[in-house]
Amino acid sequence: MPMKRSTRWHVLEDAASVAEEGALRVLMAAEAAITERGGFRILLAGGSTPLSMYRLLSEAPADWARWQVYFGDERCLPSDHDERNSKAAALAWLDLVPIPSEKVHPIPAELGAEAAAAAYAPLVRAALPFDLVILGVGEDGHTASLFPGQVHPESDLVLAVHHAPKPPPDRVSLSANALSRAREVLILATGAGKRDAVSSWKSGEPLPIAAIGGDRGVDVLIDREANAA
Ligand code: 6PG
Repeated sequence: MPMKRSTRWHVLEDAASVAEEGALRVLMAAEAAITERGGFRILLAGGSTPLSMYRLLSEAPADWARWQVYFGDERCLPSDHDERNSKAAALAWLDLVPIPSEKVHPIPAELGAEAAAAAYAPLVRAALPFDLVILGVGEDGHTASLFPGQVHPESDLVLAVHHAPKPPPDRVSLSANALSRAREVLILATGAGKRDAVSSWKSGEPLPIAAIGGDRGVDVLIDREANAA
């Protein structure tokens, strides 16, 4: 029986409001972590939904030197490929703020899925628990590169993914277990395209996104378009 996970739904007017609320929550989590533990370990979502939030964060004041940045998944593409999640986050945010480069930890997916997963696992093990995990959700209910119908060893922290239905087919992803080892989990969903996934999620379908927990449950920031009654 999976652990009961409390999911708090926060319905906001539009995607811009989701980005603003998300940025606020990230900065609050960072301040609390740095005050309490001297540092902030955040794991970033890929895809397009978080980019407007990343752009807001690039303009925000923060104690950037105390941040450590990880990625929830990566596409097996060259490291400077425009479709890389690490490249998109760098352009929108990370290259624009003074986080020491040695504290930004892209997944070396250019090595290939198996080699990258093996290389990234020790970093994830050393980082757990994350202070904040940011995730998106796909139209089929996937999150990171955990796709419906794909089974992975429960114990692994970082997975090699092949035959992904969302291109590219080869990816690297943290497991649901690793993504759930977090003080806070923030999931962003915007746009009518996500409504079916949200509806299935709310009705209890065992989607990959529904398997993500967190010490304090999960907070979902969703706009009206994506929200299913
Ligand atoms: C990826 C992402 C993926 C993404 C969802 C939502 O590599 O594609 O990690 O899990 O979060 O597919 O994507 P959008 O935000 O672009 O809708």
